[in-house]
Amino acid sequence: MDMFEIEGARPLRGTVRVGGSKNACLPLITAALLSEEPTVLRGVPNLRDIREMIGLVRHLGARVEYANGRLEIDPSGFQADSVPYEIMRKMRASFYAMGPMIARLGRAKVSLPGGCAIGDRPVDLHLRGFHALGVRMGRSAGYVLARHEGLTGTRLSLLGTNGTSVGATCNVLMAAVLARGTTVIDDAAREPEVIELCNFLNSMGARIEGVGTSRLRIDGAERLHGTDWEVCSDRIEAATLAITVLITHGSAVLENVPREHMESALFALEQWGAELKWKGPRALSVHRGRGTKRPLQIVTEPYPGFPTDAQPQLTALLALTPGYSAIRETIYAERFMHVPELKRLGARITSPERGRIEIAGTGALEGAAVMASDLRAGAALILAALAAHGTSQVRRIYHVERGYERLEEKLRALGARIRRVPESEEDPGMTEPPAIVEEVDSSAIVVDGGPPVTPARTMGS
Ligand code: EPZ
Repeated sequence: MDMFEIEGARPLRGTVRVGGSKNACLPLITAALLSEEPTVLRGVPNLRDIREMIGLVRHLGARVEYANGRLEIDPSGFQADSVPYEIMRKMRASFYAMGPMIARLGRAKVSLPGGCAIGDRPVDLHLRGFHALGVRMGRSAGYVLARHEGLTGTRLSLLGTNGTSVGATCNVLMAAVLARGTTVIDDAAREPEVIELCNFLNSMGARIEGVGTSRLRIDGAERLHGTDWEVCSDRIEAATLAITVLITHGSAVLENVPREHMESALFALEQWGAELKWKGPRALSVHRGRGTKRPLQIVTEPYPGFPTDAQPQLTALLALTPGYSAIRETIYAERFMHVPELKRLGARITSPERGRIEIAGTGALEGAAVMASDLRAGAALILAALAAHGTSQVRRIYHVERGYERLEEKLRALGARIRRVPESEEDPGMTEPPAIVEEVDSSAIVVDGGPPVTPARTMGS
């Protein structure tokens, strides 16, 4: 296993290109199974999750060719009706196979995904949607079994206790496009990844109206044809790169930014004090800007609210912003695994209640060894390490490789000192006592939680 060794406190400068969206691409790959004809996807990022998804559709019988971002899927051999635990445990988005299996094969046996580092992630809404379309469902030995004699359009809601669901909306859509009659999905997720899937399906001959709204109306089609599709660029990668530039006091132009998908993230960064200027329809100049930076109060919400997938990265930025910030996470109340690791770098963050953190911003972080627990937590740690004084080691970077294509290369091109080194399992221990360069009052060493944080000024989104 490799880790990143990062020498921080260097401003990142230059130009960097945002790649194709991982989360938009994953359902498109399984949606290609809805036709019997080949489909071509372009701009597909070469990521671990994408390669897992390719493995899954191959397992289901599709022939796939993938080179230089061009992915061709020939689904004519699609016949397998089961997704085993061995595949599901590697990537929960494998559950996206269920909609096409139900629609094309009339049956499915799919391993239930378990929880993951960001919390309990149920699939009840997916199953509720399939059931409403006429699918009979059972559960056995960790698998969900589905069967039907014909999908029938209906009206259904996909509202859960945590709001709307991207995954359930995509999965149910994929079944509904081949159902008999009209389906109306109320409380559909409005995320750009759902819009992308709707437009993609329409390009295959599906009839979906209300795209981008919370009510989707689908007139079922007899069959779909293949298509040729350019995948939209990744709004979360764009937000991550923008925050990287800001946190390192740098200045850069981000190319291929999906402007229409970024409003709330960019609004928050502007509230913070960033200077953001469009240099063209998709080129964004990112500059830290003059003057003091403002702490923020942020609430993560379904689109168009501030995205949970950029929350850990923003936490890193706010940890370095003097003043008191707060973040309430409404999508995944447990998504704060990056916090204890950021504290190892010197961040002062407390969690007064489940789903909320308060950040007492400090002027500087100090390099340390930290460990990624998931994709975005890993990104946050890399950002913080790039800003911290001294050297950091970020371990378990395989999480980061699931969702950021050539991140190391992109950061290096911006001037980062980052290198990949093998993780050594052994801690060499202390050969001689460290030299104490500065005596500190032990009460100033924050061990757990940091000092109490007073409420932040209301700022941002
Ligand atoms: C997608 O996950 C993304 N994954 C996640 O990105 C992202 O964090 C999430 O949407 C929210 O934007 C992919 O696109 C592959 P949800 P998904 O269904 O579809 C609850 C990343 O870092 N819920 O919109 O699984 C759920 O627990 C990843 O790239 C139910 O209660 O998310 C959550 O609180 C991590 N029942 C909320 O809804 C269900 O049946 C939203 O989840 C489904 C979801």
